[in-house]
Amino acid sequence: MAEKTREIAVIESQTQLTDGIFSMWLHVPAIAKNAKAGQFVSVYCNDKTKLLPRPISICEIEKEQGKIRLVYRVAGDGTKEFSTMQKGESLALVGPLGNGFPKEKKKAFLIGGGIGIPPMLQLAKELDCEKQMILGFRDTLFLMDEFKAQGEVFVATEDGSFGTKGNVLDAIRENALTADIIYACGPTPMLRALKEYALEQKMECYISMEERMACGIGACLACVCKTKEKDAHSNVNNKRICKEGPVFRAEEVEF
Ligand SMILES: Cc1cc2nc3c(=O)[nH]c(=O)nc-3n(C[C@H](O)[C@H](O)[C@H](O)COP(=O)(O)OP(=O)(O)OC[C@H]3O[C@@H](n4cnc5c(N)ncnc54)[C@H](O)[C@@H]3O)c2cc1C
Ligand code: FES
Repeated sequence: MAEKTREIAVIESQTQLTDGIFSMWLHVPAIAKNAKAGQFVSVYCNDKTKLLPRPISICEIEKEQGKIRLVYRVAGDGTKEFSTMQKGESLALVGPLGNGFPKEKKKAFLIGGGIGIPPMLQLAKELDCEKQMILGFRDTLFLMDEFKAQGEVFVATEDGSFGTKGNVLDAIRENALTADIIYACGPTPMLRALKEYALEQKMECYISMEERMACGIGACLACVCKTKEKDAHSNVNNKRICKEGPVFRAEEVEF
């Protein structure tokens, strides 16, 4: 795995995509050079009363320009602080962290739900295979132009205001879509349902998990999920999402 770096990131742009969701391009040449789809960065607040970094997935990477894009939802004090920052200001980052998605040459579904949608964009850019993107939103859409530039996009919204009314599996069924492999990131109920669907359909399935984190580098065990196999670090049926993950084979994770 590529070495992680601590780097001071300069904000190149900050825009609001929709209600409560922001996009930030950051100049971080060392992190951008080593990063790949499915990895995340730990973002430190400038307000030093907030000691712990906030894990945010990498949404896009521009290696030649040395920059990465983060798309995040304002969830609490840390992300609120990020959302008030302007072009030219700086933030400390550690990354790239985690394992990222494996890339196979198989017909793929790239599935994102809610704030799990952003990391699927860099994966769409990196995957050199036939792919269909299925995105589940609550109501308002974001990042649609970027995804459409990568291939065929199907949308599900909870209120039916756009695309299929329902969830990503409803969109797959309504459009009679088929694939050999699933890559997914999103809320736990969606990942649980995709694990079952993949087992039923005998499809390979990789899911990116999210859990509250503290250290972000594998030292504190705050972020474990239940797994079939034992973790070499703690010798129990747990794996650290920040270190062995966030991407796991779906059948490996016990929900
Ligand atoms: C691997 C990974 C990737 C993520 N990618 C994204 C992303 O691309 N976009 C996005 O909007 N959000 C993402 N999240 C969730 C994001 O980390 C939290 O929303 C954020 O940390 C909340 O911080 P806060 O200070 O605003 O909220 P607070 O609730 O005030 O946070 C308090 C503390 O709890 C931690 N915490 C709270 N919620 C979470 C959470 N869901 N996951 C991990 N730690 C949490 C915070 O880091 C902080 O240390 C990701 C989480 C993980 C684990
Ligand atoms: S957050 Fe500390 S081990 Fe994962």
